[in-house]
Amino acid sequence: MSEGLTQAAYIVAALFFILSLAGLSKQESARTGNYFGIAGMAIALIATIFGPDAQGIAWIIVAMVIGGGIGIYYAKRVEMTEMPELVAVLHSFVGLAAVLVGYNSFIDPPAVNLANPAEIHAAHVIHMVEVFLGVFIGAVTFTGSIVAFGKLRGIISSSALNIPHKHKWNLAAILVSTALMIYFVKADGSMFALIVMTLIAFAFGCHLVASIGGADMPVVVSMLNSYSGWAAAAAGFMLANDLLIVTGALVGSSGAILSYIMCKAMNRSFISVIAGGFGQTVSVSSDGEEEGEHREVSAEDVAEMLKDSRSVIITPGYGMAVAQAQYPVHEITEKLRAKGIDVRFGIHPVAGRLPGHMNVLLAEAKVPYDIVLEMDEINDDFPETDTVLVIGANDTVNPAAMEDPNSPIAGMPVLEVWNAKNVIVFKRSMNTGYAGVQNPLFFKENTAMLFGDAKASVDAISKAI
Ligand code: TAP
Repeated sequence: MSEGLTQAAYIVAALFFILSLAGLSKQESARTGNYFGIAGMAIALIATIFGPDAQGIAWIIVAMVIGGGIGIYYAKRVEMTEMPELVAVLHSFVGLAAVLVGYNSFIDPPAVNLANPAEIHAAHVIHMVEVFLGVFIGAVTFTGSIVAFGKLRGIISSSALNIPHKHKWNLAAILVSTALMIYFVKADGSMFALIVMTLIAFAFGCHLVASIGGADMPVVVSMLNSYSGWAAAAAGFMLANDLLIVTGALVGSSGAILSYIMCKAMNRSFISVIAGGFGQTVSVSSDGEEEGEHREVSAEDVAEMLKDSRSVIITPGYGMAVAQAQYPVHEITEKLRAKGIDVRFGIHPVAGRLPGHMNVLLAEAKVPYDIVLEMDEINDDFPETDTVLVIGANDTVNPAAMEDPNSPIAGMPVLEVWNAKNVIVFKRSMNTGYAGVQNPLFFKENTAMLFGDAKASVDAISKAI
């Protein structure tokens, strides 16, 4: 493939990626968005493998078959509830790739085709800075994503790590790395400086993510998404690959926008979250202890209550994903709508463990998009609602966020379900949600608990309706 044809293919692939992002921004067009992404990536791969710069095609194909095989195997096996961990692992691969490309590019720098010695020197300095920054971003993304994986999987505690003087440690890591970069460039490359910085960046990535706790995890996931994009862009600079730069920048900026949206949705300052609680003075007073008497209800009683309702709102959470209850939830939605009852869904922006987690599950079960509303669109409607079904949600419906300034989730906007006439909470026990704080909703007078696996409970209600 000639250089011109390769560049033309890169432009087409970049356009497909932009169309893909545009498609993914709405549920109705998400599937088409995915197809655009697949097409763009296929064009990009073909143009790169058969482009003028490619060498050792046989090795590349062997590596692709092995990598592709592992990818297909895991993508087929992974449960929907494990998707966040899979995404975190994939981010760590991008980070590690940037580190390896950086070392490779330092050991075996690309040839420079310039006649002017001043230009050669400038290009060399730029390349040194690219290598250093690329390795730094990649290393932070790599270890940060591994810690995020541990937190999402429950191997590492989800609460924030609070080592003494943690902000000073972060600042020191950045200052020492900057000093090492200046030395690295002045010394015309130093393996020692590169290795020391890599170790610092590994520790910095671990600490940065470990310092972010419980309910702030959604921002970490989108932030690492953004970092992985910048790591890919850095690799693109080192490899002088324009498409990798464009693609990395698209992922980096869309991840940054998503992080900003998440912070706004949770009423958090972006800087305070990424610096691990920087500037926050919230004292953790609340814990998992129970705070009163709760009332229990049977599936048959809930079915009767639903039949007597004129309006119903369902607020799903992580437990619906665990139980895979979206299909029977769709079933009861259709049965109630057939009886003329108004049924809608209220989705909290951080419900579940991935941005858009609940929307994906409901779309999978074929719940119509027009009855699935965002938190801001539905929060004022609870006072006029007869029955709210809280299916496997906990932190996202916790009134402590609004009522207790000392709560770890204080200030986070939540679905104000307690304003409805009746609230039914579907869960298996009185255990806390992801943030580890007890939920006063369970002890309110208009709340009743329906204990058991959410799928079994919704199935029983469906039968009784
Ligand atoms: P959570 O607060 O995580 O609570 C889920 C509840 O579901 C638990 O209290 C659990 O109670 C119940 N549950 C689990 N399995 C169940 C089953 N099989 N049947 C019935 N109930 C079940 O859920 P949420 O309201 O969706 O909040 C999400 C939390 O995750 C927030 O704190 C958010 O910050 C955090 N987070 C979100 C993301 C993104 S991007 N969305 C990423 C990381 C973290 P039992 O054990 O008693 O059943």
